[in-house]
Amino acid sequence: MSPDNNAPADLELELGERSYHILIGDGLLASTGQHIKPLLNYPRTIIITDKNVEEHCLHTLERSLSEAGIRHHTLVLPPGEQTKDFPHLIKLVDQLLAAGIDRRTMLIAFGGGVIGDIAGFAAAITLRGLDFIQIPTTLLAQVDSSVGGKTGINLGHGKNLIGAFHQPRLVLADIAALDSLPRREILAGYAEIVKYGLINDPEFFAWCEANGKALVDGNRNVRRYAVSYSCTTKANFVAEDECEGGKRTLLNLGHTFAHALESEAQYDNRLLHGEAVAIGCVLAFKLSARLGLCSERDGERVSKHLLSVGLPVSLAAVADATWTVQRLVGHMIKDKKVVDGNLVFVLARRIGDTFICHEASLDDAAAVLGDALKT
Ligand code: GLY
Repeated sequence: MSPDNNAPADLELELGERSYHILIGDGLLASTGQHIKPLLNYPRTIIITDKNVEEHCLHTLERSLSEAGIRHHTLVLPPGEQTKDFPHLIKLVDQLLAAGIDRRTMLIAFGGGVIGDIAGFAAAITLRGLDFIQIPTTLLAQVDSSVGGKTGINLGHGKNLIGAFHQPRLVLADIAALDSLPRREILAGYAEIVKYGLINDPEFFAWCEANGKALVDGNRNVRRYAVSYSCTTKANFVAEDECEGGKRTLLNLGHTFAHALESEAQYDNRLLHGEAVAIGCVLAFKLSARLGLCSERDGERVSKHLLSVGLPVSLAAVADATWTVQRLVGHMIKDKKVVDGNLVFVLARRIGDTFICHEASLDDAAAVLGDALKT
């Protein structure tokens, strides 16, 4: 994979009869119709998107489908994490049924992680399962959430607590679609890119240190390389462990902390998922250092890089006076990653060398959170 290669990347996620391609390139949206037509049972689709994406690039997708002779109907949801709830899911399924779908209708999830998760979950449960395609339009969705089949919604008890593994039939990531994203959204996606280096590839982390600023500033070659690298890495993890019985858990680096922060922020706009992941990764390295597993210097290097591109790394900076260790720990113990009452953390021996730990105590996690709330 070369950063200077202009041809679209065509990756395959191998899952037997549920294998699918991940296409990554500049301007791919305009040729969506020709890419998806061979996958359709008949030339009709339902697009599920949000208000922001509708304004910026829905017309390009709709034109491409029309040019390929594919009929389409669009359902538009409100943007933001708060859309990932039961009332919006019920309304969406209702609208799908009202639109006259049948079991062979293809859905298109066209948007960021929220749209991918709720549309994918609607596809998983409506009429006992519909095919769907992911067309991710945010960096976070392109490098993480659109690949691997995790779908779902949030509950008052926590993030993504209702859902299903339901693989898409195709992922189509247009790098040009990222141009209209606010810098804050790019940064949130960038945190998930850095995560891949932290998990098992120190050389990729060093690549991030050298290229992160160019990526955030809008260099399309660098963005395309990072999206291709991330999808290749994720596809390998998912192909080995689709339902997160083992190795895929490593992709949750920083997420036990991150989900607690998002729950405490009530999924509002003050903390995007990727921002919570950036802080969560720093906390995971702090916990690793506290347990004597990892040098403090590695954690400092992680913080320094995330901060240098403009990501938040300090819990104290995003928390308000109502946030307490007790409340955050309360969220953590409701997470999906609790096994038999024990928290599961992804911890680090060094940058690029992480492992799944069932033994970290709640007291150690609480101590790390307590320090982070103060500094
Ligand atoms: N976002 C982590 C995963 O899909 O497994």
